[in-house]
Amino acid sequence: MARLRLAVLISGRGTNLQSLIDACADTGYPAEIAIAISNNPDAPGLERAARADIPVRVIDHRPFPDRETFERSLDSALREAETELVCLAGFMRLLTPWFVERWRDRTINIHPSLLPAFPGLDTHARVLASGARISGCTVHFVRAGMDSGPIAVQAAVPVVEGDDEERLAARVLEAEHRCLPLAVRLIAEGRVRVAGDRCVIDGAGEPGATLVSPPPREGA
Ligand code: GAR
Repeated sequence: MARLRLAVLISGRGTNLQSLIDACADTGYPAEIAIAISNNPDAPGLERAARADIPVRVIDHRPFPDRETFERSLDSALREAETELVCLAGFMRLLTPWFVERWRDRTINIHPSLLPAFPGLDTHARVLASGARISGCTVHFVRAGMDSGPIAVQAAVPVVEGDDEERLAARVLEAEHRCLPLAVRLIAEGRVRVAGDRCVIDGAGEPGATLVSPPPREGA
């Protein structure tokens, strides 16, 4: 069966890109990375793509006069690579409604919180300041609002006493590395349908155990 052609867009270290590289290394996985694109010429994640022999493009946003001209260049690169699904994996540029519409229901993003809670930057600091005892990550289809759109996959992780941003981020990141390849697999297998503001997932299976944080002692 033909594998779904992914374009993975990054701005930084690219550990989520790596999770897709690792998933795609399995010949039974239903997707492949057609191209990795970074808006940041110094993104360490570029090295990961090069090591995996994935075609790489750097499209630095800074010389472009506005967002849309930058996005037209991005759009050409995506088309040249015959992209079927765009994965924003730590891609730190807001996309205009023009791009979002052009790639509607063909663009997903990973965000390190349980959306719709805590969209935007400095997520973990805000989660910690809020006193929430559970955080997590979300893979969603992209709509024009920041970190908004139909939710495909989420994972919950506990916030632990004594956590700082770094510790919480590391725990959430581990969950991200499971969720992004899972979301891509579900989409590639045709099991995800976007219906208005929501995703409907076929054969989603049994839900896992309830996460209680802090964990109750026996007998509560
Ligand atoms: C990830 O935690 C991702 O969820 C976050 O940036 C990090 C990128 O890490 N994205 C956002 O905050 C988007 N709003 P990575 O470069 O190692 O994949």
